[in-house]
Amino acid sequence: MILIKTKNEIDHIRESCKIVAEVLQILKKNAAEGVTTIELDKLAEDHILSRGGKPAFKGYRQYNTPPFPGSICASIDDEVVHGIPGQRKLKNGQIISLDVGVLKNGFYGDAALTVAIGEINEDKAELMKATEESLYIGIEQAVAGNRVHDISNAVQVHCESRGFSIVRDLSGHGVGKHLHEDPSIPNFGKKGTGARLKNGMTLAIEPMVNLGKYEVKVAYDGWTIVTKDGKPSAHFEHTILINDNKPEILTVC
Ligand code: MF3
Ligand code: CO
Repeated sequence: MILIKTKNEIDHIRESCKIVAEVLQILKKNAAEGVTTIELDKLAEDHILSRGGKPAFKGYRQYNTPPFPGSICASIDDEVVHGIPGQRKLKNGQIISLDVGVLKNGFYGDAALTVAIGEINEDKAELMKATEESLYIGIEQAVAGNRVHDISNAVQVHCESRGFSIVRDLSGHGVGKHLHEDPSIPNFGKKGTGARLKNGMTLAIEPMVNLGKYEVKVAYDGWTIVTKDGKPSAHFEHTILINDNKPEILTVC
């Protein structure tokens, strides 16, 4: 069931999303060669707590996974999403997806971006660019009256026409009262299908796009999703609200 949020609920979701956006700005500024992902995790957690929120991913479990240990997901190169923060130092030429969730007053916000560390090669730069563009192209489809897979199809066409692959096994999702709500929002699909979009829906749209093939697997840590072919992957995400028939991006400062 897709929840339609009340004005009051939206105010709370807005607040959580604003904190998410602030954290992503801090992370973007601090992600540099020599910095460890656990240091980024600490910066994120400190900011979230200082704003009266809680890191939404910490302790999160799905199916029979162990609880997620970090406040952020930090996924480097062939890691698609759900990378666990740790002592690894970032290196020149890497790309890293930084994913942040905040819970405040019982409501969630969720967003991610991919940043380049120093000088990256052209393949990675193009992958990042296409993935970010596809997020905004997908968001444009989030208008009342459209269907969920109109978003999916727009993302897919943009990325595949540039030679990249769409991860099949992971999707965007409704968000707000819970971190993951209906509907599931795949990044591939057929136009004109899926649930109808309505005002008051809050959605996390998150293209996950691979340079090589689309297949992924779970790494030995039980959380990190990596590409099977070892090639890099990019990820961008916003929480949006369908407001007055149009998409409004909530994860902005
Ligand atoms: N943005 C991701 C998602 O919506 C982050 C979840 S990480 C987890 O699925 F640890 F909370 F699972
Ligand atoms: Co998400």
